[in-house]
Amino acid sequence: MLKDKKIVVGVTGGIAIYKVVDLVSKLRKQGAEVRVMMTEHATKFVTPLLFQEISGHKVASTMWSGNDEFNVEHIALAEWADLFLVAPATANILAKMACGLADDLVSTVLLAAKKPVIVCPAMNTGMLENIATQSNLQTLKKRGVTVLDPEAGPLACGVTGAGRLPEVPTILAFLEGFFAQREGDMRGLKVMVSAAGTREPIDPVRFVGNRSSGKMGYAIARSASLRGAQVTLISGPSALTPPPNVTTIQVETTQQMLDACAKSYPEVDVVVMAAAVADYRPRDVATQKIKKQNEDALTVVMDKNPDILKTLGAEKTHQFLVGFAAETQNLLANAREKVQKKHLDMIVANDVTMAGAGFNADTNVVKFLYADGQVEELAKMSKDEVARELLDRVLARRKH
Ligand SMILES: Cc1cc2nc3c(=O)[nH]c(=O)nc-3n(C[C@H](O)[C@H](O)[C@H](O)COP(=O)(O)O)c2cc1C
Repeated sequence: MLKDKKIVVGVTGGIAIYKVVDLVSKLRKQGAEVRVMMTEHATKFVTPLLFQEISGHKVASTMWSGNDEFNVEHIALAEWADLFLVAPATANILAKMACGLADDLVSTVLLAAKKPVIVCPAMNTGMLENIATQSNLQTLKKRGVTVLDPEAGPLACGVTGAGRLPEVPTILAFLEGFFAQREGDMRGLKVMVSAAGTREPIDPVRFVGNRSSGKMGYAIARSASLRGAQVTLISGPSALTPPPNVTTIQVETTQQMLDACAKSYPEVDVVVMAAAVADYRPRDVATQKIKKQNEDALTVVMDKNPDILKTLGAEKTHQFLVGFAAETQNLLANAREKVQKKHLDMIVANDVTMAGAGFNADTNVVKFLYADGQVEELAKMSKDEVARELLDRVLARRKH
């Protein structure tokens, strides 16, 4: 998403400037073209030379230098960019932007800017909470400026509170989300994804579970979000970090997953159920840890869980519904039956006994089956690639 994007980074005089050095470097690594402009006060913290070396271009910091790269530099920079990112944004620059002041290069470029502006405020908590700063931020938001809210935590000035510049990966994810929502081929679509395995408690410390890691579902959620979809990820317990820009709902049991899915279902356009849900749950959940008995066997009676996919299929109105079939035998026959019985539009079938497929692996070997009976076999590929291929098919088939 950031590849070939022309980003003007406006650096102002805040202590969080050190993070922005890394940010500029990472933006370039992701293929963005970056030009840095600095306020005079920012140059007291680090020299333009550092940003020049990191960005690969001369840094603009004054309108009066006769810099050779741009004629009438403030106008040229304002016209060159796809996006303006002010980071760190001092209380001072926010006030100047809110008032429409143009008394240095950075504020003048921002006043001339016609493309989107994102500000990343970073300052002492008192400065941030001051009614003047809050009112300036409100004014800027009303005018269409995007504000990446600062985080709370220990600040350089010694106090702990709101005002920290988010870490670089958070800013990058925010930018990716920003461009995805404007340009991604899934923008405007609401996508619900289920992931990981559910757990059914036996007693307070034990459960019946499965080996699903959540990798496939998380890859689909991440990929859909990077393409601009508004994604809700409903996840069983997983060691994975939820993808950025995704609303993640954590659940444990199949019933909880069904409840969460049913709540979001009427609102969503695309549903991909990649979770490995428990088909049965222990009938009686002990309130205390079950002690070792004298008998050699312990019997746990299991009751059937509701079938999430079947329930969603029966209630389908406009949604494009995709299921997963992880099988150890009769893959195609079982997958075909699921498509019919559960009113699916598509199913991703994988034989989890194959090398490089199924639970916990980073790769998958899948077949796509559709409601019209068509079958597509895909080569072994990473779960990220499977996610991309799957979403391509969803987009193509939804249109028909
Ligand atoms: C060591 C130091 C750290 C500062 N950190 C911040 C900060 O994090 N955020 C902020 O809004 N101002 C901070 N300031 C104050 C600004 O540098 C000051 O308001 C300045 O006028 C901002 O100018 P500029 O917006 O043109 O860069 C700091 C000042 C000093 C000396």
